Amino acid sequence: MNNILSEIDNFTLEEFRELRDYCNRSIDKLKMDSNSTLIIIKPASFAKQDHLKIMDELTKKYGYTLMSGKTMQITLEQAEMHYEEHRGKPWFEKITRQLSSGPLYVAVLGSEHIDTVSRIRKLIGATDPKEADPYTIRARYGTCVDDNVIHASDSSESAHYEKQLWAGFMKE
Ligand code: PPS
Repeated sequence: MNNILSEIDNFTLEEFRELRDYCNRSIDKLKMDSNSTLIIIKPASFAKQDHLKIMDELTKKYGYTLMSGKTMQITLEQAEMHYEEHRGKPWFEKITRQLSSGPLYVAVLGSEHIDTVSRIRKLIGATDPKEADPYTIRARYGTCVDDNVIHASDSSESAHYEKQLWAGFMKE
């Protein structure tokens, strides 16, 4: 830190402005990607109408803002794009088939918190509902890893990618 500060001491005004603008752009990007996240209430839970209770909880009880939300059905190819990073894993085919098996509810939720992505991940709980903390959405609405109710972006990078991807699906 001391090294950085002594280097900054030697900056020209122009270099200092460049650094300031770079930092501001980085902070804006971080805020843009981390203050909102994408969630999907999966087809099996949508069929049970659980999305109504879950969305009520996230917006009314926890105060997240519904920035956009839509009931829709996606194709297998779109599900593969969503789960692209898991291609090659033993369960890839199963999760893509499940996600494209019927209507689902997808939403972008936001808040003033810069760590909205991780806060929502905590509220939804562990991937396997049997291992999730009892207060979480997956523990209360899910049964097993194949019926884990809800997806939420797992990092600000994923949130950025998924929000863009699903905005495209919504337009189609
Ligand atoms: S990772 O990379 O597996 O550690 O990440 P994780 O977030 O736990 O899981 C990513 C998605 O893969 C699904 N998954 C599984 N499906 C079926 N069987 C098993 N064993 C399994 N493990 C992980 C998991 O449901 C995640 O998808 P989402 O939509 O986020 O629930």
